[in-house]
Amino acid sequence: MEEIQVIIGGKTASRVISAESIEALAPLLEAYPKVFLVYDRNVAWVAKEIAAGSPLAGMKAIDTSEKAKDLATVQDLCSWLLEAGADRKSLLLAVGGGITTDLAGFAACIYRRGIRFAFVPTTLLAQVDAAIGGKTGVNFLDFKNMLGVIRQPDFTFECAQVLQTLPHRDFLSGAAELLKTFLIDNTGNAYEKAVTMLSEAEVSAPDTLQKLIAAAASVKAGIVGRDEQENGERRHLNLGHTFAHAIEHEARQAGLDITHGEAVAVGILLAARLSEAMGLASKGLAARLEADWTACGLPTSVPFDLGTLTAAMTKDKKAEGDTIHFVLLSSIGQVEIRKISAAEATAQLL
Ligand code: GLY
Repeated sequence: MEEIQVIIGGKTASRVISAESIEALAPLLEAYPKVFLVYDRNVAWVAKEIAAGSPLAGMKAIDTSEKAKDLATVQDLCSWLLEAGADRKSLLLAVGGGITTDLAGFAACIYRRGIRFAFVPTTLLAQVDAAIGGKTGVNFLDFKNMLGVIRQPDFTFECAQVLQTLPHRDFLSGAAELLKTFLIDNTGNAYEKAVTMLSEAEVSAPDTLQKLIAAAASVKAGIVGRDEQENGERRHLNLGHTFAHAIEHEARQAGLDITHGEAVAVGILLAARLSEAMGLASKGLAARLEADWTACGLPTSVPFDLGTLTAAMTKDKKAEGDTIHFVLLSSIGQVEIRKISAAEATAQLL
């Protein structure tokens, strides 16, 4: 078992615990007088394994979709907690992907003005990104994650074993966030190791995968510890995301099925091209990443022209007036932020 601490203001605010087997969760739950478990129906088997090893005060399955990631579902969760007798000492344990951890984490943050919560992320995307750092919330009036808070979970329990039933497309979606993390911080040549693992389809080697997940968690924990409220360095985690959110917006309008990770993969390539066009990165970086994406099975393009992405980018919730903090890539493991308008960014790429 490996433990990474999220240290905020000199104190341990959260822990990311990596273990080979789900059984290692039971001793962690013993610390709480009552544990309530909410889980994504798709991973009922993980919830059942947890229930077999630990006494639970209540269990609830939820359906997870962007549509159901709303206040009505949070209200349902709070009603269930109240009826089932959850008090200020209870723990709400969420088992599922980012939608589950966002919904349950947000419910835990507002129920009785906040009870403790912890996550068992069951998607690669949630293990390397969504379930670490304390961002939780729901969609509101067609805006993604418009209502939410930043409050740290007691712990995030990471186990590659629970990924065994994850559909390949969802795995690849998480792989894009894994690669993104190592483009921000390439300690130990983790980026190259991840590309090798993904391109050689070595994902059946759970050891390698578990180590890379822990490495990505460590990068994210460090960033969150230094900038929990996203005033500076935490913005680095948005590498590729300004373009990705615009791609996802256009895909929704066009009725196309593009996952968040697929949009992020293409968004990172656009960010790399922009970095080259602005003279921040050496020529060839974008081509190198494109070759890596192809080897890993990630997409390298989307059916939208750059002009159409500009309007969508200005609607990004992180836009400040006309300008956006674009995360640019100077080299593998090195990012920089430039405040420019969406129109300027796309003009550089046309
Ligand atoms: N998903 C980006 C962050 O947690 O800041």
